[in-house]
Amino acid sequence: MARPSIDARLPHIDSQRTQVLAHPLARGLDTAEVARHLAGLPAQRFPSTVYGSRGPLPLIQPRGGVPTFDEQLMLTRALSDAGADFIPLTIDSCTRHNQYDTAMQLLRRSEEEGRSLLNGYPLVCHGHELTRQLYEGLDKPVSLRHGTPDARLLVELAIASGIVEIEGGGLCYCLPYSEGFPLDRALLHWQYVDRVCALYSTPGRPVHRESFGPLSATLVPPVIAITVQIAEALLAAEQGVMSFAVSFGQTGSFVQDVATARVLRALAREALDEHGFADVQLRLVYHQWMGQFPMQRERAAALIAGSAVVAGAIDADKIVVKTVDEAFGVPRPEVNAQAVDAVRYVLRTFALPGGTASPQIDAEAALIESEVRSLLQAIYGLSGDMFWESVYRAFQMGWIDLPFSPHADNANKLVTMRDAQQSIRIADPGALPLPPQAIAAERRAIDARPDNGEKTYRRMLADISMMV
Ligand code: 5AD
Repeated sequence: MARPSIDARLPHIDSQRTQVLAHPLARGLDTAEVARHLAGLPAQRFPSTVYGSRGPLPLIQPRGGVPTFDEQLMLTRALSDAGADFIPLTIDSCTRHNQYDTAMQLLRRSEEEGRSLLNGYPLVCHGHELTRQLYEGLDKPVSLRHGTPDARLLVELAIASGIVEIEGGGLCYCLPYSEGFPLDRALLHWQYVDRVCALYSTPGRPVHRESFGPLSATLVPPVIAITVQIAEALLAAEQGVMSFAVSFGQTGSFVQDVATARVLRALAREALDEHGFADVQLRLVYHQWMGQFPMQRERAAALIAGSAVVAGAIDADKIVVKTVDEAFGVPRPEVNAQAVDAVRYVLRTFALPGGTASPQIDAEAALIESEVRSLLQAIYGLSGDMFWESVYRAFQMGWIDLPFSPHADNANKLVTMRDAQQSIRIADPGALPLPPQAIAAERRAIDARPDNGEKTYRRMLADISMMV
């Protein structure tokens, strides 16, 4: 996979783009005007500027989206005042599934009835001219958080609104979220998104992309999370993206988190360098626990504080925070702001980057690294004119197999469970091309569990929820 000449590749994006921008809800978006708008934004609105000047602590990002403009404006201000380093714009589920008519109806009813009938901000309905007004005078980056397999129109409108951090990817925004969306289509739609991000990027002001490493957030072994992250970094770089963040979700094991961060950071950098993308800036993002949250708010607060310590220990560039409302639904704005403040407090109190040397972590990192190298080499070896085709074939063959994916075409042969230290282990590798020694090491760790890795329903629920 050599560096493509961006203009020579994918000529079909241009005609596709004309079609996407002809949608009535694009409201006559003018790409030259958007480029001028981006050029006029403060430098601090670009993630690469903010990451480039970060101090010793990870940057903090909450999530947040509400249906109406006025409420979103209040939320934006509350989160910024609370000290969030990145301002979120979480999109509602109707928009994520391209159901703009339904989103529009529910937006109108939310406005009329004074209650939220959408679980996020319907950006496509509001349009870019209004959405820009959310961010007047703001000197922090805004991050688009969604879960959309076909995000072409959404991302066009987000960038036109001055939102230059775009989360997602063909794998990470399809496999955990969609039962029926064909993966090859999702990969091609995200190729479009990556290309548009590249086209709007200028030196020093790249439109930043971030992948979503937690995936199904349910017993995902590090080898799958890391391989998906590296594949998406390469797919984006292939389209000319110059600034990219890989991410992963808290595993539930401190040792495995530290080892995962180490391998993900090193192998993502290595993969980009080896494929001619040494000039792509790379960041590491850590997601606080993405699984089921405790109903007791004291426990939720403890979980949030604990994972903030891990984020500091792995020297994450950014931490995405949860709230004590997580078990109950979309967080109240004041609770969301309190979470930002609490995480900053913990980070300041327990800064310990680099204080994580241990033979146990070294052994875990070596195991994960051997697995990721083996899977990546197998994927690179697949034929395909373009890298996305190899990625797609790897999925079809069950090499990229995501535990607890709702996707109809996911292999579901890979079986994972926790070991006695709560690390996620591979009980059955399914079709994954892993080294025999690694498979044996995974098995040994399971056998060392007091219950010998008994596969009962109760045990599985405890493994998933960590509610032991
Ligand atoms: N506001 C705040 N957080 C949200 N999440 C999803 N929608 C919203 C929203 N509108 C968060 C929840 C969820 C995660 C994927 O994103 O924490 O678990």
